[in-house]
Amino acid sequence: MLKVDNLSFSYGKIQALKNVSFELEEGKIMAIIGANGAGKSTMMKCLAGILRPQSGNITYCGVPLPHATHQIVKKGLVLVPEGRWIFPNLSVEENLELGAYTVSSAIDGKKKAYQMFPKLDERKKQRAGTLSGGEQQMLAIARGLMSDPKVLLLDEPSLGLAPLIVNDIMSIIQEINKKGISVLLVEQNARKALGIAHKACLLELGSIVKTGTGDELANDADIISAYLGGSRKTS
Ligand SMILES: Nc1ncnc2c1ncn2[C@@H]1O[C@H](COP(=O)(O)OP(=O)(O)OP(=O)(O)O)[C@@H](O)[C@H]1O
Ligand SMILES: [Mg+2]
Repeated sequence: MLKVDNLSFSYGKIQALKNVSFELEEGKIMAIIGANGAGKSTMMKCLAGILRPQSGNITYCGVPLPHATHQIVKKGLVLVPEGRWIFPNLSVEENLELGAYTVSSAIDGKKKAYQMFPKLDERKKQRAGTLSGGEQQMLAIARGLMSDPKVLLLDEPSLGLAPLIVNDIMSIIQEINKKGISVLLVEQNARKALGIAHKACLLELGSIVKTGTGDELANDADIISAYLGGSRKTS
């Protein structure tokens, strides 16, 4: 569905992505795991039209992905960026409305968002900057869903959150996926990401070095020792 073929990107002399290829299949969750600086956010920014790759191709449903972010959003690909980027001085509701700029009305989207995230419903008039970290991440995801995407690109949704909240976020991602939205999930939290991913790949220094199912990578000896704290996945 979303196919990345031989993509390379450099920031000046720093090559952040080297001939990266993978495919996100329709209706699936694909995880990209990797350490700090592996190139995960750079990959997501290329997909969202924020960065322009120097070489390689991105196709979506068999046709080249447009270059401009607003056109990419109209095609149904939405990025929930690392660090969330909510507007702290706007209310929860206003933040959601900003996510609806490509659709004619925000009413349906808000209704669905409040059904999925009852905590946001209770806090809709509250300033977004006063939400907890987990609630802010939920708001960022809910805002991403406002334009009714087909593919959600999630960059480090678990960053800085307590383990129990990370579990909630992972369940929400699975719930979103069950509604038919394909998910590309970038995570440093390899254990959690592999636990919910149908397919996954490992990015190291800008190159994909392993690809497999979530279970295959979670049981890979190299990944266990380098990314899963040396113990086998138990859940
Ligand atoms: N704006 C920039 N200018 C120069 N180099 C950059 C820039 N942004 C990222 N880089 C470099 O590109 C490489 C990949 O960075 P990127 O942010 O994609 O990594 P990441 O996998 O998302 O890391 P993290 O897990 O810490 O978020 C790093 O070496 C980083 O220093
Ligand atoms: Mg990053």
